[in-house]
Amino acid sequence: MTEKARAELLADVLSRYEGSPNPRLREITEAAIRHLHAFAEEVNLQRDEWFAGIQFLTATGQKCDDNRQEFILLSDTLGVSSLVEMLTHDGVEGSTENTVLGPFYVPGSPQRAKGESMLVDPDDGDRVVIRGTVTDIDHRPIAGATLDCWQNTTAGFYAVQQPGEQSAENLRGIYTSDADGSYEIRTVRPVPYPIPSDGPAGDLLKAHGRNWMRAGHTHMWVRADGYKELITHVFDEETEYLRDDAVFGVRDSLIRRFEPDAAGELATTFDIVLDRA
Ligand code: BEZ
Ligand code: FE
Repeated sequence: MTEKARAELLADVLSRYEGSPNPRLREITEAAIRHLHAFAEEVNLQRDEWFAGIQFLTATGQKCDDNRQEFILLSDTLGVSSLVEMLTHDGVEGSTENTVLGPFYVPGSPQRAKGESMLVDPDDGDRVVIRGTVTDIDHRPIAGATLDCWQNTTAGFYAVQQPGEQSAENLRGIYTSDADGSYEIRTVRPVPYPIPSDGPAGDLLKAHGRNWMRAGHTHMWVRADGYKELITHVFDEETEYLRDDAVFGVRDSLIRRFEPDAAGELATTFDIVLDRA
């Protein structure tokens, strides 16, 4: 087929969407069509290769169930989730950066007192403290903000991945900021862990010689009335995979050093700045 015939094909396909009643859906669909056609052109895609791609996407869908979302994992490992987070979070200069949510968030974590440990089960990791303040961009404290936190064990698994083996409330907790905006979390030092690699997304990583590890981090979902929600992580400066995080979730502004504090505890400060809603 000539280049002209291929251009006419694309124009014909796009013209069929001109009558779409939903402008945003039309914009997204048309852009997807244009980019898909350009992609096929660029790599001179052959029938057997397109079919292999369709089989891959079919297997990705078949891997999904109530607990596993392989498409999100694929989006994560292609960096698309991270890009969409960047596009979605129009945080003003000075507010805390966001990053990916990930698949291991479970609503309904226990409320925890300031300074309480969210570690419930035995764990031989280092104990650490994460403390700081929640403020607005003018440094005014935000009282009553909730910090919904979750983290993997030193063995590399979230409680939701090991029902029956870990307590359901292990390494999960909702902390609330004080009148002066301060909060304090006790936990174990976050360590790298593997993302699920036993499905098509993992197969693709392996086919390219990529790793499937995440840099050690503690998740936080911060909410306060009148402010935009913030979904973020705190990364340990000494963790591996900061430059090779499988899901491209690391942001330099979220990396912190754990050091002994005045009481001799391994601690770090993570001040959180929220944007007004
Ligand atoms: C996580 O940090 O929990 C995560 C994020 C993306 C994919 C897998 C895990
Ligand atoms: Fe995580």
